[in-house]
Amino acid sequence: MSQEMKRRDAMGIAFGACAAVGGVYALAGMKAAWDPLPSVKAAGSTVVDVSVMEEDKLYTDKWRGKPVFIIKKSAAMVAKESNNAKSRDVIIGDSRFLVCIGLCTHLGCIPAYKKAKNKFACACHGAEFDTSGINTRLPAPLPMLIPPFKVDGNSLILGEAGEAYNKMKESGLLGKVELDPKA
Ligand code: FES
Repeated sequence: MSQEMKRRDAMGIAFGACAAVGGVYALAGMKAAWDPLPSVKAAGSTVVDVSVMEEDKLYTDKWRGKPVFIIKKSAAMVAKESNNAKSRDVIIGDSRFLVCIGLCTHLGCIPAYKKAKNKFACACHGAEFDTSGINTRLPAPLPMLIPPFKVDGNSLILGEAGEAYNKMKESGLLGKVELDPKA
């Protein structure tokens, strides 16, 4: 085997090992974050009851096969946020919520919630996001995406575009949502 082939083989093994480690961290982060809410799934939509949520705790549900992060923000958390960050909040009753697709906008790993630091950190390549899902550290090129949502009483309906979602969309706050139409 030539030196060049050996070098390529070694690079391939190293890359594979990195990808595997990243995947393990991402799964560990997801497991730590996984705290399902009472929700009802129908074709194309997920209805989440937010009335039982505790403040500043990450809940994860699923919509169209994608993890969705939801946090009911405490007043202390909101006080630390910029106006730009607050403008991405979903307001239900008197409370403000983070609602976003829990996938890193770099290459799609699942970021872990670091509650003590008020941020999400992606173990794959080091990107970070604030508690409104805005990317604060490269290589993530975009905020975590906000899925179509509608508010109905204490329910958050993922997959239906309500008034607040449409306003965010018009303001360019959502990022680019690419979805598999078959999912
Ligand atoms: S996939 Fe998150 S930083 Fe690369």
